[in-house]
Amino acid sequence: MKSRILLLILLIGVGSLNAKAQQLKKIFDDTEKQTSFMLDQVNQTKTAWLNDVQNKKKPEVVSPRTLTPDGKLVMVPAKDWTSGFFPGVLWYIYEFTGKEQWKEKAEAFTANLEKEKFNAGTHDMGFKIYCSYGNGYRLTNNTSYRDIIIQSAKTLSKRFNPKVGCIRSWDHNKEKWDYPVIIDNMINLELLFAATRLSGDSSFYKIAVSHATTTMKNHFRSDYSSFHVVDYDTLTGNVIKKTTHQGFSNESAWARGQAWGLYGFTMCYRETKNKAFLNQAEKIAGFIFNNPTLPKDLIAYWDFNAPNIPNEPRDASAAAVMASALYELSLYSTQGKYFRGIADKITSNLTSQYRSKIGENQGFILIHSTGSKPMNSEVDVPLNYADYYYLEALLRGEKLKNKKPLF
Ligand code: GLY
Repeated sequence: MKSRILLLILLIGVGSLNAKAQQLKKIFDDTEKQTSFMLDQVNQTKTAWLNDVQNKKKPEVVSPRTLTPDGKLVMVPAKDWTSGFFPGVLWYIYEFTGKEQWKEKAEAFTANLEKEKFNAGTHDMGFKIYCSYGNGYRLTNNTSYRDIIIQSAKTLSKRFNPKVGCIRSWDHNKEKWDYPVIIDNMINLELLFAATRLSGDSSFYKIAVSHATTTMKNHFRSDYSSFHVVDYDTLTGNVIKKTTHQGFSNESAWARGQAWGLYGFTMCYRETKNKAFLNQAEKIAGFIFNNPTLPKDLIAYWDFNAPNIPNEPRDASAAAVMASALYELSLYSTQGKYFRGIADKITSNLTSQYRSKIGENQGFILIHSTGSKPMNSEVDVPLNYADYYYLEALLRGEKLKNKKPLF
């Protein structure tokens, strides 16, 4: 009798694992159809763009980013901070399906970004190069990708100021900030850690640790919410002011900024095993997931202090970044089960409530993200980075279930 009950429990367990695997297969089947549709839209948009004489002197557009308010596809050149996400989406589809056709597409869209390895005019190198070439290298071991990652890290390192202890984020708005560092910049550190592993040159690692340590000291409030922009004096290394650019106010908690912090400090713990970074990630998660303004479905409004909650747009991109970060954090934290449960709930809600129908939204996977509400730019739209982190979260959730390594 006892052994029959045990067998029944085992069969139910296996059945539910199979059902989940089937569900994921269906999501990726849909994603393949939707992304094939997007590739057609990308071709058409690019052809029309190339045929327009007004674009003759402009840098060529290479990756889809979002939609215009009237639903047209917005494509961006390689230098745009989001250019690496679509190649990353293609690599994730290849990772799940193993189909050569997706590898070929991923390689082609990744190759469009190579010249960025010399672009020292931006801190967004990690977003651009690690989501594209980083995933490509992880999945193919192509040595030319490794060289591009190392060169990109060299270029990014030029933006590090040892007096400040951080990489400079932006060069624009020089009248507003002397040396702006934004919380988003935490994500670019992953490229530096990888470059040290791949080259043996520890200077990249040291810059990443310095940036994370300085950010931990200056970007956070006592409740572990973060400011968006911290401006530094390059002569003294002191903080001049703490402000925002994409949040509701200087004192508010911009949702995607909180997500970048959560993801960034979790990744820094992976790379350094410094417990202070793990503690920081756990505390950031505590701020986010105990926040009274977080909706029941766990898809945050664009800012935790937005004035008209619940009548404010959501940011599915922030939720996707959070879910992916939490899956990783669940590996390291004593609260791992709790964090994994939240990540499961977010991915499940994104899947059921925030996905485009196949053939709609020019092929983007998720809807209801917000780029910059204060500038009334990209409000309640699809965004390529929401799609990227959503697929990453799905893959991480699946690897955890199968007890496979995440990286
Ligand atoms: N890194 C820019 C953004 O999150 O909007």
